[in-house]
Amino acid sequence: MDIYICIGSSCHLKGSRSVIEKMEERIRREHLEDRVNIRGSFCMGNCTDGVCVRVGEKTVTGVNAENFDEKFETEILGELRDE
Ligand code: FES
Repeated sequence: MDIYICIGSSCHLKGSRSVIEKMEERIRREHLEDRVNIRGSFCMGNCTDGVCVRVGEKTVTGVNAENFDEKFETEILGELRDE
C-alpha cells in the first residue's frame, strides 16, 4: 500500500518534510515497512488544509509534526490495517 505525502509548495512550507520523517519513524515502529511505501506527491488541491496525506481512497488534511501521532492513530492506521 502506498501513502502519499504532499510535497507541493504550500504543503512543503507547512512542513511536509517533518511529516515524512514522522511517517517513516512510525511505520517502522508499527512494523509496517514491508507493506507500506511512503511516496511524495504533487499538490493534491487542498493547499489551504495542508499538509495533506493520502492513504488508499482517503485524504487526511492538516497533518503536522505536532498532531502527527493523533492523526496517524485516528485517521491513518485503520486504513493500513484494513488492507
Ligand atoms: S501543496 Fe499540498 S495540497 Fe496543494
